[in-house]
Amino acid sequence: MPTLNDTIEKPDHEQLIDRILERLHRDGQAMYGGEVISQTEHMMQTAMLAERSRAPAPLVAAALMHDIGHLLAAVSEAEDRRHQSAGSQWLAQWFSPAVSEPVRLHVDAKRYLCATDKCYFTTLSPTSVRSLALQGGPMGLDEARAFEAQPFFNEAVALRRWDDAAKVTDIQTSPLDYFRPHLAAALAATAGGFVAG
Ligand SMILES: [Fe+2]
Ligand SMILES: [Fe+2]
Repeated sequence: MPTLNDTIEKPDHEQLIDRILERLHRDGQAMYGGEVISQTEHMMQTAMLAERSRAPAPLVAAALMHDIGHLLAAVSEAEDRRHQSAGSQWLAQWFSPAVSEPVRLHVDAKRYLCATDKCYFTTLSPTSVRSLALQGGPMGLDEARAFEAQPFFNEAVALRRWDDAAKVTDIQTSPLDYFRPHLAAALAATAGGFVAG
């Protein structure tokens, strides 16, 4: 769950973007689980892949922040199922479901793909295979059908595939500021049609 310290009271968009980018820069320098890149590098690579796929701004923003739950509070490895919930709840304070829902669903999307795509499991990194068990293992068929009916199912699966591919060493990523317009566009879309609860 997001802590009180993770709450930013009524910031304007630029201030909020500053805080998010600062947090990604400051708190994401730890290595990403057992992978060979930092958490920040991993999320930036995920966002780059989303942008290259011409994803809309809210989905690029979701890709950039999809593991922010790991940075918000101590979400231990044993509690790996929680980082998607902590992250999506934090984001939902300011962003629409087009941002927070793919984040909430990105772990279940992995469990879905393991159940429905024969090749998918073989593409997972050793760390991702290990965390699969903590995350509940592959979905059963009924659960997979129910997952397909979720709003933002397609976005969650797309995000998951970028997530899995975003563990490359020795790749040049754009600076974090590069994604400022995507965050601004996602917040503008939220302001136009969504009121955070
Ligand atoms: Fe994740
Ligand atoms: Fe990730």
